Amino acid sequence: MLISREMVLDQDIGLNATLFGGDMMARMDKVAGITAALMSRNRRFLTVKVSELVFHSPVRAGEIIEFHIAIARQGRTSMTLQIEVQVYEPVSDQRRDVTSGEFVMVAVNEVLNAEPILWKSEMVQAAKEAHRARHGS
Ligand SMILES: CC(C)(COP(=O)(O)OP(=O)(O)OC[C@H]1O[C@@H](n2cnc3c(N)ncnc32)[C@H](O)[C@@H]1OP(=O)(O)O)[C@@H](O)C(=O)NCCC(=O)NCCS
Repeated sequence: MLISREMVLDQDIGLNATLFGGDMMARMDKVAGITAALMSRNRRFLTVKVSELVFHSPVRAGEIIEFHIAIARQGRTSMTLQIEVQVYEPVSDQRRDVTSGEFVMVAVNEVLNAEPILWKSEMVQAAKEAHRARHGS
């Protein structure tokens, strides 16, 4: 499921004339938080784990990046989200993989203790269908 698109600006560029890896990680963490909110009726989530973060190709200023998610696991108080970031080139309609990673988000109450996730089943279904449409399985 496509969650968001952003444009990389000159001000985001670090060494090597490419997007700084930490900037990309922060953007992915934000997308994980947005996704957790969209998929549930819980008010707060914390990131508990990030894994398998791979930078496939560098991103340059002026490029549009897309954040696609799939729900890899629905737990009791946590959800595991697979995030794939691609550069989208609107003139050619071409896409290129740039970063991927897995984020585990935990629903927490007002004192930041884990609480059960109140799933929005229609959103979970929509995410599954979008994933199938992209990957054909
Ligand atoms: C998130 C947090 C509240 C979970 O507390 P906890 O005592 O581990 O809670 P629990 O043992 O009940 O686990 C809660 C859920 O997290 C999952 N979890 C905990 N540690 C995990 C880990 N290392 N990897 C994957 N999942 C993990 C558990 O499996 C459980 O999921 P489930 O209910 O779907 O099975 C606590 O670890 C925390 O506050 N961490 C800091 C979060 C934070 O500050 N993030 C921002 C980073 S700057």
